[in-house]
Amino acid sequence: MSLLGSPAPADTTDRRNAYVLELRGVTKVYAGGVTALAGVDLAIAAGELVAIVGPSGSGKSTLLHVIGTLDRPTSGEVWIDGHSTAALDDQQLASLRAQAIGFVFQQFFLLDGMSALENVATALLYTGTRAGERRRLARELLERVGLGHRLHQLPHKLSGGERQRVAIARALLGRPAIVLADEPTGNLDTRTGAEILALLEELNRDGATILVITHEREVADACRRQVAVRDGRIEHDSAGEA
Ligand SMILES: Nc1ncnc2c1ncn2[C@@H]1O[C@H](COP(=O)(O)OP(=O)(O)OP(=O)(O)O)[C@@H](O)[C@H]1O
Ligand SMILES: [Mg+2]
Repeated sequence: MSLLGSPAPADTTDRRNAYVLELRGVTKVYAGGVTALAGVDLAIAAGELVAIVGPSGSGKSTLLHVIGTLDRPTSGEVWIDGHSTAALDDQQLASLRAQAIGFVFQQFFLLDGMSALENVATALLYTGTRAGERRRLARELLERVGLGHRLHQLPHKLSGGERQRVAIARALLGRPAIVLADEPTGNLDTRTGAEILALLEELNRDGATILVITHEREVADACRRQVAVRDGRIEHDSAGEA
């Protein structure tokens, strides 16, 4: 952290490694004393598709929040796209988050008074992008996720799978270095979940780096790399295995 409100060093970029994400010795102790992360080292390279698995309460969501810079670690280092997050103040962190990370959650989080197109376009509201360009980009991404025919539909008139596609389109805005998904198929029936999984795989083949938290075997099996978390530690990481 910068002291006394002085600006962080202008260049916090470290290009010594090619990781999109790196955690070194990360711990998270919540107020009240729960140790949710007990020393996590994790490095993710560009283009990976990684499943984070583990029992309820093992620290998966906490890990995702810390990776997504929604929460700061208690100790240890988090590097996102070559930037050390410790050196950034909250505003700089928010800007790195907006640029580098796309989030997909189990509960979609769409605004119900707005069409699919507006839900995606609105996410660009504070980026200085002009209205026409916002709508063009939003349309392009919705087409990308297979919703070109539902642009003007309100969320409550969309199926669960279609809502999750809108949320994924929104997460892809600004071409984030990494997409973080917490149980993205958790609210969907099996077939719809399989379609969303196929979409994530397709986006990954096109180059997106994706981390998926999941309880579902099929989702984990579809990812080339599986990281198993237990009691706030990485119990097993399939990286490097045949
Ligand atoms: N905001 C919080 N304040 C205090 N304790 C928390 C908080 N969030 C999570 N915890 C605790 O931290 C531990 C890890 O929680 P976390 O939500 O990361 O687990 P999880 O692996 O995502 O579980 P699930 O599979 O049920 O979603 C749990 O013991 C939980 O009770
Ligand atoms: Mg969770």
